[in-house]
Amino acid sequence: MNNTKNYKIAVIGGDGTGPEVVREGLKVLEVVSEKYGFDCELIDYDFGGDRYLKTGEILPDSAIKELRGFNSIYLGAIGHPEVKPGILEKGILLRIRFELDQYINLRPVTLYDQKYCPLNLREGQKVDFKVVRENTEGLYCGAGGFLRKNTSEEVAVQESVNTYKGVERCVRYAFEYARKDGKQKKVTLCGKTNVLTYAFGLWERVFDLVSKDYPDIKTDYAHVDATCMWMVKNPEWFDVIVTDNMFGDIITDLGAMIQGGMGIAAGGNINPEGVSMFEPIGGSAPKYTGQGIINPLAAICALSMLLSQLGEADAAKAVEDSVIRVVREKLNSLGAGRMGYSTSQVGDLVVKNIL
Ligand code: IPM
Ligand code: MN
Repeated sequence: MNNTKNYKIAVIGGDGTGPEVVREGLKVLEVVSEKYGFDCELIDYDFGGDRYLKTGEILPDSAIKELRGFNSIYLGAIGHPEVKPGILEKGILLRIRFELDQYINLRPVTLYDQKYCPLNLREGQKVDFKVVRENTEGLYCGAGGFLRKNTSEEVAVQESVNTYKGVERCVRYAFEYARKDGKQKKVTLCGKTNVLTYAFGLWERVFDLVSKDYPDIKTDYAHVDATCMWMVKNPEWFDVIVTDNMFGDIITDLGAMIQGGMGIAAGGNINPEGVSMFEPIGGSAPKYTGQGIINPLAAICALSMLLSQLGEADAAKAVEDSVIRVVREKLNSLGAGRMGYSTSQVGDLVVKNIL
């Protein structure tokens, strides 16, 4: 009998540089799966701007059904310069997040080498925390609408939807994460309780309630604007930050910058009880498409997160350790076109440095 584990992974390269960075991730996957003794069956999907422009199809209902049958989803990027903003993002990325109920967006903010940090870090300061972003609610729900559209009397309303259940499961995930993997055993709620008293009133009450189940975990609170300030001034204060969808989106771009840029920032859209999807968070970067100069490390870090979610902890760590070696010993920049290597050469370096 063959007892080798076999994972079914859906691969969506997507738009722009997405397919290029995913290709490097898959190169790494092939090597680690061999080394750590598991098999992967990869199924490719061509959803994205090109397919939409050619066929008018964004994401067929059948695809959502199929995606539910995978162990994981590996995504490159969604966003096409010739398609009006919102169509692909909402029709593919957000639809998958919502329909597969990937209610956590886990975004590690870890600086692997000080030389990539735009901050002037002092002795003892470091950038090493996780953002747990709520991923199915808030301003992203699409609740709202226009009145008197296209007139000078127009009214546009976009509402933030926060449910007890949605907030509770997100906050609980953050506390569980801090208990299991937190370096400081601390969770910071990032909100705006001084203005958004309804939405973050709920968040604050739920946070306080859930925290009672975790007496071993320290708690902290920061308004979102102050969170941005502290991320620059004292990033070492943070361990696990939990926040809503919109704030999480914004602070993780800032997080990406202080960890060395979009070239290294990865995230996971996680349904702890279902199918998760992992992606570099930098977007499709269309201006770099096809030049072989985009940094694939964010996609490779996303692969490491994917492996970890599958339960292949050793393989996940081997990939991350290799990335760390490559950024410390080989590269001088994490920016597209400035790495000193091509996209595929960086992928090769990660493959070579897997021990
Ligand atoms: C991200 C992206 C998406 C988001 C866009 C592309 C819809 O910015 O994953 O952070 O806002 O969530
Ligand atoms: Mn974003």
